[in-house]
Amino acid sequence: MPKIIIIFFGPPGSGKGTQAELLAKFTGWKKISTGDLFRAEIAAKTKLGVLADKYIKRGQLAPDKATISLVEKSLKQKASGFIFDGFPRTRWQLKELLVIFSKAFKKNDRVYALEVVVSDKEVKQRLGQRRVCACGKVYHLAYNPPIDDGVCDICGGKLFIRNDDKPQVIAHRLKVYHHDGEPLLDYFKKQSKLIKINGEQAIKKIHEEIVEKLKELRLI
Ligand code: AP5
Ligand code: MG
Repeated sequence: MPKIIIIFFGPPGSGKGTQAELLAKFTGWKKISTGDLFRAEIAAKTKLGVLADKYIKRGQLAPDKATISLVEKSLKQKASGFIFDGFPRTRWQLKELLVIFSKAFKKNDRVYALEVVVSDKEVKQRLGQRRVCACGKVYHLAYNPPIDDGVCDICGGKLFIRNDDKPQVIAHRLKVYHHDGEPLLDYFKKQSKLIKINGEQAIKKIHEEIVEKLKELRLI
C-alpha cells in the first residue's frame, strides 16, 4: 500500500493545526507539527527548546537544522500516512524534505500540499482569541470554546495564550509566511499536487471539504 503524505500550508492562524488534528483522527495518519514539537522542547527546557524559544517568541523561524532534526525523529514512527503541519517553511527545508522522502518513502507514495486560504485580517481576529493547552488542544473563545472557561476539555489543564500571539509578533509571522512559506506552493502547483481549501468557513465544513477532496483524489 502506498503511503500518503499531506503537507498543510497556510498563514499563522489559518487553522492548519485544527484541521490537521481532525484529519489525523479521521484517517489514523500521524500528525507532525513542528510548532508543537518546538513548544514541547521549550516546555521541557531542552537545549533545542532554549534555542528555539529565542526565535519563536519574536515570530522568527527557528534554525533550519534544528527543525530537520525534529522532523527526522518523528518520521521514524510507523504509519500508513503522515500529515505535516508547519513544515517545510523555507526553500532549504523543502529540499531537505524531498531528500528525506526519497530515503523514507517509495516512488508510488503520494505527496500533496493542502493550502488553507485565509486573509490576514481574519488571522488577526482569530489569534487574538486563541487559547491553548499544554496537551496541544487548541480553542477559540468564540468559534471553538472549551466547555468550562479556561479549562481544557481533554485533560483539565489550564488554558493559556501562546507566547507568539501578541499583535506585533503576529504581524511579523504573517510577513515571514508570505515571504518564505507561501512561495513553496509553486513547487506543488507545477506538479498538480496542490489542494486549495477556503479556510474562512466553519471548522466542521472545512474538515468535510478536505475529506471530500482527498476522496476525489483516491487518497482515502
Ligand atoms: P506554528 O505552531 O506552526 O504556528 P503558525 O504557523 O504560526 O500557525 P498557528 O499554529 O499559529 O496557526 P494554525 O494555522 O495552526 O491555526 P489554529 O488551528 O491554531 O509555528 C510557531 C513557530 O514555531 C513559528 O513562528 C516558528 O518560529 C517555529 N516553527 C514552526 N515550524 C517551523 C519550521 N518548519 N521552521 C522553522 N521554524 C518553525 O487556529 C487558530 C485559531 O483559530 C484557534 O483559536 C482555532 O480554534 C481558530 N480556528 C481554526 N479554524 C477556524 C475556523 N474555520 N473558523 C474560526 N476559527 C477557527
Ligand atoms: Mg498550529
